[in-house]
Amino acid sequence: MTEQQFEHDVVVVGGCGHVGLPLAIALADSGASVLVYDLSQDAVATVNSGQLPFDEPGADDKLKAAVADGRLRAHTDPAVVGGAEHVVVVIGTPVDEHLNPDPQAIPRALDACADHLRDGQLLVLRSTVFPGVTRLVEQLVAERGLAIDVSFCPERIAEGKAMTELYSLPQIVSGRDQRVRERAAALFRRLTGTIVELEPEEAELAKLFTNTWRYIKFAAVNQFYMIAESRGLDFERIRQGLVQDYPRAADMPSAGFAAGPCLFKDTMQLAAFNDNNFALGHAAMLVNEGLPLHVVSQLEQEHDLRNCTVGILGASFKAGSDDIRSSLAYKLKRILGFRAKHVLMTDPYVTVDPDLVPLDRVLSESDVLVVATPHPEYRAITTDKPVADVWNVLGTEVAQ
Ligand SMILES: NC(=O)c1ccc[n+]([C@@H]2O[C@H](COP(=O)([O-])OP(=O)(O)OC[C@H]3O[C@@H](n4cnc5c(N)ncnc54)[C@H](O)[C@@H]3O)[C@@H](O)[C@H]2O)c1
Repeated sequence: MTEQQFEHDVVVVGGCGHVGLPLAIALADSGASVLVYDLSQDAVATVNSGQLPFDEPGADDKLKAAVADGRLRAHTDPAVVGGAEHVVVVIGTPVDEHLNPDPQAIPRALDACADHLRDGQLLVLRSTVFPGVTRLVEQLVAERGLAIDVSFCPERIAEGKAMTELYSLPQIVSGRDQRVRERAAALFRRLTGTIVELEPEEAELAKLFTNTWRYIKFAAVNQFYMIAESRGLDFERIRQGLVQDYPRAADMPSAGFAAGPCLFKDTMQLAAFNDNNFALGHAAMLVNEGLPLHVVSQLEQEHDLRNCTVGILGASFKAGSDDIRSSLAYKLKRILGFRAKHVLMTDPYVTVDPDLVPLDRVLSESDVLVVATPHPEYRAITTDKPVADVWNVLGTEVAQ
């Protein structure tokens, strides 16, 4: 590969997003000179003002410092893609309304800036991709006659934990040969000491298996929850009882809405990859997506919801987050919109939904409450109103 000089170390394509931006910040904090390329003008302006476009604990001060001393700068001009040795691609890879993945999402995004790619660069794919996309990108690069190494290095952080997990999780790196893997490993050694090498096709599946495994585990406990609750038993008491001092069940999570932009769609990507022969994945989807319906049906057994105001506590898809993407709280809201007299929703973190109302109003005006998101703030709530609390936020504790 030709030796080239680059003015910057890294450019992150999609670098104003939920995983691209924490990575850009962490790399800048490690001393790298980082460019961000993103289509969103608003997010680029926000980042260049030293502000995060979304909550990410621990990233705020590091972003301010990196912007202030010029180690991180965001752009909407695709020409910046040619300015750094490492090009890391972290754009979104959603499934469509028919649950089809889009294997062309990454090649299309790269095509738009391919004129700026330069020999000698390392192209790191970091989005979660449909298996085979790494090879498609290798072909795209070859067809354009570019001497560029291509590596797939999946991101496995959880939102809200990026600024610790980028440093603590092992990093899977993959590439067609050892030299490519070494280049990718050298980049990520800036953040973490543990590098795991796989072939690209193995790494693509490793990422999908990681998320699908988690989604199926949540589905298992959610099904257990529905079995227990429909017989009038408290699932969380049972769970706490069975995991106590029993290592083989120590990883059994609590029940709760399994939502957000990744787990569901990556399970569907895996199903599509296997020609839709994925009974376990589809069953997990039915259980997890069915939980809000189950909660409403259980409520209807005890309350005439047509005459009730139902208050939903939480809008984001997970605790302590302002991210409402694919949140099941909104599915719950839609169901209740048909079945209840009135629905109110509140969330202490979410700022993008003008229909949310303050917590006090939800607590005073609702006849029935549903905890949709286990925000820590809700643990302090005391109410004599009926509460549907899948997450057990208001608390069952088994006597020790
Ligand atoms: N959110 C997570 O917790 C998480 C964790 C691990 C992996 N992932 C994966 O990371 C990828 C990104 O997810 P995300 O949650 O950060 O998405 P996101 O929507 O928050 O961020 C994507 C960013 O890419 C930008 N963008 C879209 N198309 C572009 C293009 N053609 N050129 C330049 N910029 C473009 C968008 O403006 C946005 O800022 C997905 O593949 C996802 O599955 C997400």
